[in-house]
Amino acid sequence: MTEDLSPGDRAKRAAARRACDFVEDGMTLGLGTGSTAAWLVRHLGERVAHEGLRIRGVPTSRRTAELAREVGIEIVTLDEVPRLDLTIDGADEFDGALNLIKGGGGALLREKIVASASDRMIVIADASKEVARLGAFPLPVEVVPFGRHSTRRLVEECVSALDLPGDNVTLRMDGDVPFLTDEGNHILDLHLGQIGDPRPLARALGEIAGVVEHGLFLDLCDTVVMGHPDERVELREGGSGPKGRRRSVRRGRDNIFSDLDE
Ligand code: A5P
Repeated sequence: MTEDLSPGDRAKRAAARRACDFVEDGMTLGLGTGSTAAWLVRHLGERVAHEGLRIRGVPTSRRTAELAREVGIEIVTLDEVPRLDLTIDGADEFDGALNLIKGGGGALLREKIVASASDRMIVIADASKEVARLGAFPLPVEVVPFGRHSTRRLVEECVSALDLPGDNVTLRMDGDVPFLTDEGNHILDLHLGQIGDPRPLARALGEIAGVVEHGLFLDLCDTVVMGHPDERVELREGGSGPKGRRRSVRRGRDNIFSDLDE
């Protein structure tokens, strides 16, 4: 089978297989979306079938749910299990601080909710996803259909105000019609080239009415498992470990609840 795979697929499969080692019996997992996450789901299915691994999974998209069911993974919802042990998902880009761009597959909203509900997030990716600065991959922004033209204008203004190219925002299409996410929303892709500091952009996008979520995943990823076409795998760890990273976010100046502490 290895012979039939492209170098990129070999790298993705290697990363997914290595990430499976972090999965323990009894865990409840967030299951990511995309071609790399699909390898993970298949590997987990093999472990369920051959080792009797007992896991439950919260899928981040309908297509992941379908595949998980097919390979025999028990599916649960976040309403049934509000706290997850581990989420494993792909990414479109990751930088040295393990900040991510996600949403190339259109599942960023559920992916971010699931990652945020998890004690730990592991990203699986081939080496082409590692970048010095985020932004070469178009940043997906999920918007509600109501008023999407005015929301788009506000997004363009916000991007320009941050000295990023605001005139390069496109509505994602599915053939002749706007792409629809699993939640029934649209996606704007922001072709920014390079994002200097993603935090002001993340904050500003989050404040626009009509924007549901954006694909900047900051301080969420704890570990990246990066695969190479020769099936070597490298691990990138976040600075202070999972709990430390989350605590430092909560205590830092980006803490959205800081007003409530006073
Ligand atoms: C899905 O919405 C995305 O966030 C994916 O995780 C991302 O696009 C990576 O996909 P691949 O594993 O297919 O590259």
